[in-house]
Amino acid sequence: MGIALCPGSFDPPTNGHIDVVERSARHFTSVVVVVVDNSLKQPMFDAEERVRLLKEAVEHLPNVAVEHHGGLLVDLARQKGADVIVKGLRAISDLEYELQMAQMNATLLHSLDTLFVTTNPKWSFISSSLVKEVARLGGDVGALVPKAVDDALKLHFGGEYGGKRD
Ligand code: PNS
Repeated sequence: MGIALCPGSFDPPTNGHIDVVERSARHFTSVVVVVVDNSLKQPMFDAEERVRLLKEAVEHLPNVAVEHHGGLLVDLARQKGADVIVKGLRAISDLEYELQMAQMNATLLHSLDTLFVTTNPKWSFISSSLVKEVARLGGDVGALVPKAVDDALKLHFGGEYGGKRD
């Protein structure tokens, strides 16, 4: 299959995000992970840092690239020749927001389909917001995020935030 976009805020990337990217990489010739500035959210990590964290987390996937995009996703899809967006669904509650975005994108660019993959149940309770909240309060999120993200969270909160990784 062709080129897929995996867009998101990724503030920060979690194991759930990486699982969706890994599975997309199995089905598409090439995958672009797109770090987007969501106008509704004030990020903890700037775009450059989120790109760096993602690049480290997907370096084992040769057909995956990571980049920041500041405009409409459909414009990037046109530029890349991508006709699919892949998003993960953790629960039915995700669907309302995701459906709205999928339909808006398809209205702006008719050839662009959004495919949903169900999140691995192992990661279905994780969100970037929850990870940040737990890390902020000193909980160990090392099992829920890539190593680079764990390190970045510790740095952000001034050293060890809680329990230790092995
Ligand atoms: O991880 P998120 O915050 O749920 O991802 C939302 C995101 C970044 C995919 C969405 O806000 C997006 O695509 N923004 C890019 C700008 C755009 O194209 N907006 C219209 C899409 S409906």
